[in-house]
Amino acid sequence: MKITVIGTGLIGSQLATELTARGHEVTARGHEVTAASLSSGVDLLAGTGLDEALAGADTVVNVTNSPTFDEQSIEFFRTTVSNLLAAGERAGVRHQVALSIVGVDQVAELDYYRAKTLQEELLRGGPTPYSIVRATQFFEFMEPTMSWTSDETAVRLPATPLRPIASADVVDALADVATGAPLGGILDIAGPDEFTLDEIGRMTLAARGDRRPVVVDDRAGLFAAVRGDVLTPGPGARLAPTRYRDWLNG
Ligand SMILES: NC(=O)c1ccc[n+]([C@@H]2O[C@H](COP(=O)([O-])OP(=O)(O)OC[C@H]3O[C@@H](n4cnc5c(N)ncnc54)[C@H](OP(=O)(O)O)[C@@H]3O)[C@@H](O)[C@H]2O)c1
Repeated sequence: MKITVIGTGLIGSQLATELTARGHEVTARGHEVTAASLSSGVDLLAGTGLDEALAGADTVVNVTNSPTFDEQSIEFFRTTVSNLLAAGERAGVRHQVALSIVGVDQVAELDYYRAKTLQEELLRGGPTPYSIVRATQFFEFMEPTMSWTSDETAVRLPATPLRPIASADVVDALADVATGAPLGGILDIAGPDEFTLDEIGRMTLAARGDRRPVVVDDRAGLFAAVRGDVLTPGPGARLAPTRYRDWLNG
């Protein structure tokens, strides 16, 4: 079995390592894992290097990301997913896996969420059996989120309900899906605990010894556009073991 991981960022780099480590469990013949991204000469936007990266691949896992979260992200996902599906078909790929976001189709106000929804739609309508893994917000994404609405005196955050997950737990779930049969649907994955974003902010600052207050501001930052608890999963989600507080203090 050959698995090609496209994207070598936060998730892709860990996923390639995990899949390689699991190799002996997957088939008696073992399996081969290839990781590729822009910096290794595979450009999903231009479509270059893809045929070489996908040669002989049974499964492709797409963990690329758009360089921006604005409306350009819509064209990024439209073009990159179309190129990847076409190249997968040429190469005889039998399973296309993509990483998306829990509740992604519920936040039409955000260009990036519309772009990720389009990614899902293209995959669903494509020629290859597929799996969509929708994760909640990564633990690693919490500090960047806070920095967008911080100054020296305070951190402003809306009280959006979230159930963040460790990227290592996302990798574990993705590795299970990539080595299994196509789901032909969506698997939601989430962390063990639900918090509001301002609570996450307070926990994060406390763990860093940062004494700034967190001020609830329902108009602050990206998550201000989110209504209610649409970013938390419903019943049936796979819940991951790692707790945010343990991860922060680890
Ligand atoms: N952040 C969250 O909380 C969260 C939650 C749920 C789902 N997700 C999803 O998780 C996915 C992966 O996120 P991540 O944090 O691992 O991303 P990341 O660290 O930003 O890595 C993105 C990767 O995409 C590659 N890439 C970008 N443009 C490319 C192109 N034109 N051709 C080929 N490769 C290209 C980059 O290549 P180079 O490194 O070579 O430049 C990089 O390896 C994203 O699709 C995101 O929507 C994120």
